[in-house]
Amino acid sequence: MVFLIYILVLLLYVFGREIKMKNAHDWNSRYQTLTQVPQSSQVLSAYTHLLPSKGKALDLASGLGANTVLLAKHGLETYAWDYADTALVHLQAHAKKHKVLIHTECRDVVVSPPLPHTFDVIVVCHFLERSLVPFLIDALKPNGLLFYQTFTRCKVSTSGGPQNPVFRLADNELLHLCQKLQIIVYCEEGNVGDIKKGFRNEALLIGQKC
Ligand SMILES: C[S@@+](CC[C@H](N)C(=O)[O-])C[C@H]1O[C@@H](n2cnc3c(N)ncnc32)[C@H](O)[C@@H]1O
Repeated sequence: MVFLIYILVLLLYVFGREIKMKNAHDWNSRYQTLTQVPQSSQVLSAYTHLLPSKGKALDLASGLGANTVLLAKHGLETYAWDYADTALVHLQAHAKKHKVLIHTECRDVVVSPPLPHTFDVIVVCHFLERSLVPFLIDALKPNGLLFYQTFTRCKVSTSGGPQNPVFRLADNELLHLCQKLQIIVYCEEGNVGDIKKGFRNEALLIGQKC
């Protein structure tokens, strides 16, 4: 019986590892052709004034670094972590073009989340790993800020974001996930009112660690 459980655990571990490696491989393949750096996310571009003027910032699951360069230009010591090394190569070139220094690291953030009390700012955009949120809150220094923006299940158009609802937020889920933080900004417009206007298909939150 013990032997069977051992085999089962081993199989689950190997299977899980394979899926992770496949996912990183898939993202790397996408970044072979997808090289255009997207615009910085609303949660940062509309609330840049909330950023501290100095300190350490992490763009977690940065991809091509839509937000990384904005953080560095703001004067923060900026780190970008992603498990797709191809994206990080593009990101370094992009940073060089903008004459800013950034620290990139090819890292599986689920396996190796940031250590406690290490960052003044953490930005997460278009990436949802619910189990990671408590680690992100721990990783903030006192008064540190979490900027989070990602897709919601409630959407007014089919474009953008993952098809699988598991990777999209349920109603007010981001608010619940971050309830240990003091909420500074929260926006989730759903399908209320004139759906041709406003911030749709996504939710955004800025929270401060007290
Ligand atoms: C949709 S992209 C978002 C990129 C960027 N944050 C943005 O908003 O443009 C998701 C990113 O998450 C990265 N990613 C997914 N799972 C990861 C993991 N476990 N560790 C590190 N990066 C991961 C992918 O490689 C990809 O670059």
